[in-house]
Amino acid sequence: SAVHVLNGPNLNLLGKREPGIYGSATLDDIRAQLDQRCSAKGVSLVFKQSNFEGDLVTWIQEAGAAGAPVILNAGALTHTSIALYDAIKGAQASVIEVHLSNVHARESFRHHSYISPAARGVIAGFGPLSYLLALEAILQNI
Ligand code: DQA
Repeated sequence: SAVHVLNGPNLNLLGKREPGIYGSATLDDIRAQLDQRCSAKGVSLVFKQSNFEGDLVTWIQEAGAAGAPVILNAGALTHTSIALYDAIKGAQASVIEVHLSNVHARESFRHHSYISPAARGVIAGFGPLSYLLALEAILQNI
């Protein structure tokens, strides 16, 4: 089944948004890197972004129902959203939480994640490579 990569609020601005923190790569650049690796492995990729919490809830439910692994960068919803936690738990979705930045080296309000307790694992701080590392974990059937 396909790997689902779900991106939350403000990640559509990647490349322009606080490049000192998030780097110069755009979300399309990240998608292209993941696409290349998925193609090489014969795996299909579903890649989405929304600024709306409810879209992410629905997409997590869909991935869970399909038994598809999820790479989730929930953006700031990471630090606020019980609904995303409930979606992961409720849909029994297998989710790897990713962040471009090292959230633990930043403001204290970024140190807590509602996603982490429901996640299979967490990767943060490696820029676009965070997504690729998560994909490797999925490809190794972790
Ligand atoms: C982020 C970290 C979050 O704290 C922030 O709100 C984001 C991006 C990251 O990828 O580093 O929007 O998830």
